[in-house]
Amino acid sequence: MVLVSGRGTNLQAILDAQNAGTIQSRVALVISNKEATPALKRAETFSVPTKVITSKNRNPRDFFLELQDTVRAAKPDLIVLAGFMKILPPDFVKTFRSRIINIHPALLPNFPGLDAQAQAIAAGAKKTGCTVHIVDEGCDTGPVILQKTLDVLPNETRDHLTERLLPLEHQALIEAIQLIEQGKM
Ligand code: GRF
Repeated sequence: MVLVSGRGTNLQAILDAQNAGTIQSRVALVISNKEATPALKRAETFSVPTKVITSKNRNPRDFFLELQDTVRAAKPDLIVLAGFMKILPPDFVKTFRSRIINIHPALLPNFPGLDAQAQAIAAGAKKTGCTVHIVDEGCDTGPVILQKTLDVLPNETRDHLTERLLPLEHQALIEAIQLIEQGKM
């Protein structure tokens, strides 16, 4: 199962890997907390079931309860947060402990939270990268599965860095899923 909020290039990487047989896992359901996202379109192209559980103008407690019920009913082996822009509440994490992974565009523990690429540039980092980690109760704090590193170019903009990081993220996410499938995580 994959949870998304927007563009969905990481979801696309998973769907492509599924199609190519690079991973054995099958995406059973894509849940988006926003309507009409490109990510939903990508899932539909692969005939993967989708569900929108809107978080907009909604009591967060109600949103997360509906999300939790939907996820529980689908009985996923793995829940991938692929650009899902919500912090899961502790109860949710506890229910699916060790079965939720997240892709983050920085070398955690550096630059957790929003806009990690801009944080890296503002800090003058010479290297950054991406991290796939198991989700715990904190924000981007769970155990690291794997990381990939990239040199930050002189005078690089946030957008340029973001663009260069994406292929690395896609590769990292697929490798992390492979490690999980092989029982190495
Ligand atoms: C990625 O940079 C990911 O690391 C972060 O959100 C972004 C999602 O991109 N968590 P996409 O929707 O997968 O294209």
